[in-house]
Amino acid sequence: MIAQSTLETIGSTPLVKLQKMAPSDSAEIYVKVESFNPTGSYKDRMALAMVEGAEERGDLRPGMTVVEYSGGSTGSALAFVCAVKGYRCKIVSSDAFAQEKLDTMRAFGAELEIVPSDNGKITAELIKEMIRRTEVLDADDRTFFTDQLNNRDIIRGFEKLGSEILQQIDKPIDLFCGAVGTAGMLMGVSKVLRQSEDRTRIIALEPASSPFLSTGKKGAHRVEGIGLGFELPLLDKNCYDEVRGIEEEEGRKTARRMARDEGIFAGTSSGLNMAGALQLARELGEGKTVVTVAVDSGLKYLAGNLYTG
Ligand SMILES: Cc1ncc(COP(=O)(O)O)c(C=O)c1O
Repeated sequence: MIAQSTLETIGSTPLVKLQKMAPSDSAEIYVKVESFNPTGSYKDRMALAMVEGAEERGDLRPGMTVVEYSGGSTGSALAFVCAVKGYRCKIVSSDAFAQEKLDTMRAFGAELEIVPSDNGKITAELIKEMIRRTEVLDADDRTFFTDQLNNRDIIRGFEKLGSEILQQIDKPIDLFCGAVGTAGMLMGVSKVLRQSEDRTRIIALEPASSPFLSTGKKGAHRVEGIGLGFELPLLDKNCYDEVRGIEEEEGRKTARRMARDEGIFAGTSSGLNMAGALQLARELGEGKTVVTVAVDSGLKYLAGNLYTG
């Protein structure tokens, strides 16, 4: 089949059963490998949903500029969708995020504004400053701010990820876990899995050093894309059963094991997802099924110390 554009190649990613990492007395673990998306991340799904939602409502028209703030994955996905559809794209980002991600946004033609961070740390203050600068860019009717924290089209975009999981697996899913950034992925997948007959438990994951969802206390961490440390407009607390804090270092070690043992080359938040899945699969025990997501490709993290640490 010939795709009419690269936009048609978003989604339909593989669901892979772990062969070595899950001990024999634990639940089986299945991983949705989202690096197969065009920019190497599940954010392609939400970028397309935000752009097409705005087009359908007439909020985004030819000649306009899309503006957003991003650590890189959303920005790259938006820049990619805008490139194919012919919109200009301006992204506010920071030096706290991987250089590869900043360069990827530029490769797809995005213009970047960089907000300096405190020693590479991702903090709630940094994210808020990035949002403030984006609001300044969104000054007139020739710009469209996709506003990822508030944009409900994202949830629709991720529902497809949930439907794909249901189509791909031929047994009940006992538990799904995933880390929360905007909460778009968890909301979309949870909506679909909860409508299935499986009574899937949904577990939200967060960095243990920034346990905002579980305790209201925020802290600094270095897991890009998650643990924003403030109330999330998209997050409906009824959409999950429990929040788990996962040690960042455990997530990093798990990312390295994923590459070496399973050939799944992914990023830091994916390592955290997998560390959560391993913990929960041990608790559930044999005969049960756990699903999680490898968010993006490890290629984006080679400049940092994820794979050398
Ligand atoms: C690398 C990475 N992992 C996880 C997430 C979290 O996804 P969501 O925003 O759908 O909660 C993001 C979102 O920015 C991300 O960039």
